[in-house]
Amino acid sequence: MKTLVQILCGYVFLLGAIPSHAAEDAVQLQLGKTLFTKTAVPACSLCHTLKDASAEGAVGPVLDEIKPDKSRIIKALQNGIGQMPSYKASLSDTQMQAIADYVVKAVSN
Ligand code: HEC
Repeated sequence: MKTLVQILCGYVFLLGAIPSHAAEDAVQLQLGKTLFTKTAVPACSLCHTLKDASAEGAVGPVLDEIKPDKSRIIKALQNGIGQMPSYKASLSDTQMQAIADYVVKAVSN
């Protein structure tokens, strides 16, 4: 007869077997997109064009064209660049990672 512990271990094992990375990635990308379009202050959409986000800002470069890699995005977010403000004080590292992952994915479509 199975003990309760064995049964619980079975559940934990099963949960682990579900491809949670895919789910986490989807959550991360959705978070990045929401930050990009709405929640970052000011929102990236105000200044940048990015097709995937239906963003048509014209102050900064068109992200679909410059196709920045992740480190370039993180650097711009942390330090600001030209007219673009730094987001160091308003976004957490996790939020910056989410935005960068989202933009990299969006421009590779
Ligand atoms: C107030 C307008 C404005 C906002 C808001 C803004 N940007 Fe920018 N961004 C710019 C401008 C202008 C540049 C070009 C700066 C330059 O090269 O002098 C730029 C450049 C960039 C670059 C290229 C950096 C490089 O190394 O050339 C990236 C990537 C970028 N922005 C991403 C973002 C993301 C992601 C957000 C939202 C978190 C954002 N921007 C919000 C105006 C803005």
